Amino acid sequence: PFQVKIASSGQVIDIAADQSITDALAAAGVDIPVSCEQGVCGTCLTNVLEGVPDHRDLYLTDEEREANDQMLPCCSRAKSSMLVLDL
Ligand code: FES
Repeated sequence: PFQVKIASSGQVIDIAADQSITDALAAAGVDIPVSCEQGVCGTCLTNVLEGVPDHRDLYLTDEEREANDQMLPCCSRAKSSMLVLDL
């Protein structure tokens, strides 16, 4: 489990082990547009301001993954205890 903080509101949302970031955020009233929900389409691409994503998508290039400044929250998770997303 880890937490996601919404940069614009300061809202902190717990992400359970069996829950995607986009599902947890939607349940908390923060909607990120999704389409494939499998990390292939890029629809949910979101900028990361702090924290280290655990990239599990098939969309970003290796260079983009290493930059750690964007992620696909429909399927990716976190290596750090918190991610701050530019939402
Ligand atoms: Fe397709 Fe996230 S919804 S990559």
